[in-house]
Amino acid sequence: MAFSADQFRLDNKVAIVTGAGGRGNSIGRAYALGLARAGAAVVVADINADGAKTVADEIGAAGGKAIAAAVDITKPNSVAKMTEAAVKAFGGVDILVNNAALMAELGALQAADIALDQWNRIMDVNVTGALNCAQAVIPLMRKRGGGKIVNQVSGGAYPAVSIYGISKLALVGLTTTLARQLGREKINVNAIAPGNVQSEAGKQLAPDDGPFIKFLQATVAMRAQGQPDELVGSLLLLVSGAGDWITGQVLHVDGGWVLRP
Ligand SMILES: NC(=O)c1ccc[n+]([C@@H]2O[C@H](COP(=O)([O-])OP(=O)(O)OC[C@H]3O[C@@H](n4cnc5c(N)ncnc54)[C@H](O)[C@@H]3O)[C@@H](O)[C@H]2O)c1
Repeated sequence: MAFSADQFRLDNKVAIVTGAGGRGNSIGRAYALGLARAGAAVVVADINADGAKTVADEIGAAGGKAIAAAVDITKPNSVAKMTEAAVKAFGGVDILVNNAALMAELGALQAADIALDQWNRIMDVNVTGALNCAQAVIPLMRKRGGGKIVNQVSGGAYPAVSIYGISKLALVGLTTTLARQLGREKINVNAIAPGNVQSEAGKQLAPDDGPFIKFLQATVAMRAQGQPDELVGSLLLLVSGAGDWITGQVLHVDGGWVLRP
C-alpha cells in the first residue's frame, strides 16, 4: 500500500495514557492531548484523580473525546477498573501508553545502601505497574486484532547510574520481551527514551543551574532540554498505522544525548 500521511490518524482508536494527570505541563498531558488531536478517544489515567479530570476536560473543551480514570497502576484491581471504564465509554482499547512513574522524587538515588522496601516501591510503580497495565489491555487488543503499547523509559537508562535508571532499563526489557511474544498477534511494543524534558517534574529533577544540565549542555549533540510537546510526534509514529512494522525498539528523543550504534 502506498504511503499516505493519513496513516498517522487515530480516528476510531481508543488510547489509555497512564500518568497523564500530572502537575502542569506534564509529558502525559502532552501525549493525551496529542492522541486526541490525532482522532483517538483517550482515557486520561492517573493516581491524581483531579489532575486526570483537568486534562480530560481540556481535551473535551478542545472538541476531543476523553474520560478521566483514577488508577493506581500497582494494583491490578484498580487497573481492571481503568480498562473497564475504557470499554464502557469507548468499546475497547487499541493503544496503551505506560507513562506513569516515580521520577522527580527519586533524584539520583543509588543502589549500594537503598532500603529494600524503597527499592520494591520504585520497581512496583515503574516496572510492575507497566506490566499490570499491559496484562490488562492485551486481551482487549487481541479482541480488536492488534494494538500498540509504548513504554516511557529514559535516557537515564543508558547506562543506568541510579535506581531510577535501573527501573527504566527493566522497562526496556519488558518492551523487548513483550514485543517478541506479541508480534504475530499484531501488537507492537516499543519504548520512547526522552532526554531532559521541561515538565514540572523534569525541572524539579534537573534544575537549570544544576550539574546534570551542565553535563548535558556540554555533551548533547543538538539541544540539552526539550518540551513535552516535542515527544508527541514520536509517540504518534509508534501508535499509528505509520509504525506498523516497528516493534521492540527504543526511540531516543533527546536532541542527541544518547548516541547508539
Ligand atoms: N521529565 C523528564 O525529563 C523525563 C525524562 C525521561 C523520562 N521521563 C518519563 O516520562 C514520564 C512522565 O514524566 P513527567 O516529567 O511528565 O513526570 P510527572 O511526575 O508529571 O508524571 C508522572 C505521573 O505518574 C503518576 N503516577 C505516579 N505513581 C502512579 C501510580 N502508582 N499510579 C498511577 N499514576 C501514577 C503521577 O501522579 C504523575 O502524574 C515518566 O515515566 C518519566 O519517568 C521524564
